Amino acid sequence: MLQVDNIVTYYGNACALHGVSFRIEENEIVSIIGANGAGKSTLMKSIMGVVRPRSGAITYQGENITNLPTHKIVGKGIVYVPEGRDVFATVSVQDNLEMGAYSRKFSQKELNGLYEEMYTMFPRLKERRKQMAGTLSGGEQQMLAIARGLMSKPEIIMFDEPSLGLAPIIVDEVFDRIKYINQELGISVVLVEQNAYMALTASNRCYVMENGKITKEGKSSDLISDDSIKEAYLGM
Ligand SMILES: Nc1ncnc2c1ncn2[C@@H]1O[C@H](COP(=O)(O)OP(=O)(O)O)[C@@H](O)[C@H]1O
Ligand SMILES: [Mg+2]
Repeated sequence: MLQVDNIVTYYGNACALHGVSFRIEENEIVSIIGANGAGKSTLMKSIMGVVRPRSGAITYQGENITNLPTHKIVGKGIVYVPEGRDVFATVSVQDNLEMGAYSRKFSQKELNGLYEEMYTMFPRLKERRKQMAGTLSGGEQQMLAIARGLMSKPEIIMFDEPSLGLAPIIVDEVFDRIKYINQELGISVVLVEQNAYMALTASNRCYVMENGKITKEGKSSDLISDDSIKEAYLGM
């Protein structure tokens, strides 16, 4: 469905991705784990056209999307829910949702249908729909960031560290919604996480990133019992 072939990405003179290859198929949840600074977010941003790879190719449903602008990539059905959630703090919950649909030309009727879908999935956002997003709790802001991503009706949604800074009970809620999005809505999910245990238990396949390279990949159920993964990422 989405294939990344050997991309090399720089920030100025600093190389952040040294030839990374990655793929996700329909209906999969694929996780990417790795320490802070490994290049996980840079891989997501390279896919979204936020940063430009110097070489390599990104192909989506057979089409080369490597040099497309971000809004066109969103329009094709790939969306990124960034690290740190990044909601528009001084804008209402509902207006944040509307901005998520910006790259798609939906009619008002379609938009209203989408709001209803989001409010059914995230009832607390409905109660707070007129509130400014900055007044929400961290967990609610994460839910809003997810809902805003879904407003573009994606085929692939990529979550960057959705559990970061949230209390364990809220983390469970976020992962529960992510599973629902995959299983009930049929959307493919890329899950970037420093919490390797959560990532491995929630995904079908997993990639391990270190220093701008993929150092391991495989079925999550195999990696979770791999000795080097246990030692480096699961603290066992
Ligand atoms: N905007 C930026 N400018 C310069 N260097 C950056 C920028 N963003 C990330 N980097 C560097 O690129 C490398 C990979 O970072 P990142 O992709 O954010 O890692 P991760 O998401 O795995 O924590 C790190 O060395 C980081 O310092
Ligand atoms: Mg990151």
